[in-house]
Amino acid sequence: MSLQFISAEEAASYVKHDYNVAFSGFTPAGSPKAVPTAIAALARKEHEQGRPFKIGMFTGASTGDSLDGELARANAVKFRTPYQSNKDLKALINSGQTEYYDVHLSQIAQEMRYKFLGDVDIAIIEAVDVSEKGEILLTSAVGIAPTAARLAKKIIIELNENHPTDILGLHDIYEMQDPPHRREIPIFSVKDRCGVATIKVDPNKIIGIVKTNRPDEIKEFSPVDEVTAQIGDNVARFLVSQLKAGIIPPEFLPIQSGVGNVANAVLGSLGTNSEIPPFTMYTEVIQDAVIELMKTEKLTFTSGCSLTVSPPVLSSIYKNLDFFKSRLVLRPQEISNNPEVVRRLGLITINTALEADLFGNVNSTHVLGTTMMNGIGGSGDFTRNSFLSIFTCPSVAKGGAISTIVPLVSHLDHSEHSVKVLITEQGIADLRGKSPNQRAHAIIENCVNPDYKQLMWDYLKLCSKKSHTPHTLSAAYNMHKAFMETGDMKNTTWSDCEK
Ligand code: COA
Repeated sequence: MSLQFISAEEAASYVKHDYNVAFSGFTPAGSPKAVPTAIAALARKEHEQGRPFKIGMFTGASTGDSLDGELARANAVKFRTPYQSNKDLKALINSGQTEYYDVHLSQIAQEMRYKFLGDVDIAIIEAVDVSEKGEILLTSAVGIAPTAARLAKKIIIELNENHPTDILGLHDIYEMQDPPHRREIPIFSVKDRCGVATIKVDPNKIIGIVKTNRPDEIKEFSPVDEVTAQIGDNVARFLVSQLKAGIIPPEFLPIQSGVGNVANAVLGSLGTNSEIPPFTMYTEVIQDAVIELMKTEKLTFTSGCSLTVSPPVLSSIYKNLDFFKSRLVLRPQEISNNPEVVRRLGLITINTALEADLFGNVNSTHVLGTTMMNGIGGSGDFTRNSFLSIFTCPSVAKGGAISTIVPLVSHLDHSEHSVKVLITEQGIADLRGKSPNQRAHAIIENCVNPDYKQLMWDYLKLCSKKSHTPHTLSAAYNMHKAFMETGDMKNTTWSDCEK
């Protein structure tokens, strides 16, 4: 067979109302751009004609604005899974117009294979190259692309000339067998490869190829400020103490670092701390800070799922591919985030909380328990299975009107059983081996902002009865209530609460 080039508009015309469409990519890296924008235009036309047009969307994680943003603004998203961060899509999700299924990122591919989520009608895959035999060379991310392409009834390729074909060898494509035939994943060190360089599909499924030349739509991080820099320094100081205590072995352990501004600052601090030896990463998203550490050889090898780096950093990688190919591998998210591998390799995991409670429970996803921020992402994949799980956050948000440490989290993503260390700019609460009461003391003493410390001690005093976990349920959400009613958690009172 011979593969044909088609326009983005023709490609979009194969997508019908109610279809489930799977997209390659992980973050804006590797996400299709031209075809989703054309699908959004088609949706608008259909809506103008009074016809319904909404699709179900399976992605690796968040995507770029020309995918999530365009489809959201066209009100063309019936269902979306998993992680997302586009503001227009969030508006649809938080107003109930789009059904959103927030699931651990390591699980989405297997849930598609297990038929939990229905058929994949079309997969739209961004590639650097595709052969007549159906070999697809991906661009800057892997995500769910191998599973999506294999399960999809039809495939559209977005051939993006913005990436060089020399990228061949950067990816390690491996798909797991399903139970009861599943075997161990043969990765025993961060550097191990267990798969192949390209995805192989039945070429007869490929409807056509759409040529593009567009960079990934990666947003800049906020510059490191005093608070995030202090959090980073606290993390580095804590890890050095664990190294000196012989808890972390002298050769160090692989690091996983989460997403966002705080995570970026933490990596910077690990890089500049001379007491932390050169280390490796087994992580999900590879951000700019990771590449900078690789260039200085502080970071000797990185396994990840996507190169979520700014265009200048990506071009510096492409100019020096020999250096990076021997130090970097991109894996499907099912493997980059796999709990089995995370536990085996003994990862030190560092993720960010929106809020944490006095007992170490963490909310990473829901503002005031109801409004979806982004999603759980890979934080649960890593946290639960790590050698040492750390959560970081600034001690206050919204100019001090919110204490990120509260009596009881308004939504639970990571329970006290999985969270080992909590770090804010104020300090470090080591929760290992501590009872809930001891944890509460460690967190108030070390992590709570001085503006909220007395309020927290007073909360603990409310519980006069001896109990394993010193809660007073009638008061547990008073700080959230005070914020909703007055705009500031500092206005919290406990006076009307039952003891
Ligand atoms: N209540 C309400 N809002 C809060 C809050 C709280 N307790 N804590 C933070 N916020 C707000 C901040 O004010 C900020 O709002 P703004 O965008 O209007 O300024 C926003 O939340 C983001 O805060 P910021 O400190 O800039 O966070 P970040 O960029 O470091 O991201 C998370 C933090 C939690 C949103 C992000 O890490 C995330 O989505 N995590 C879940 C997924 C994950 O951990 N993935 C990694 C796995 S590999």
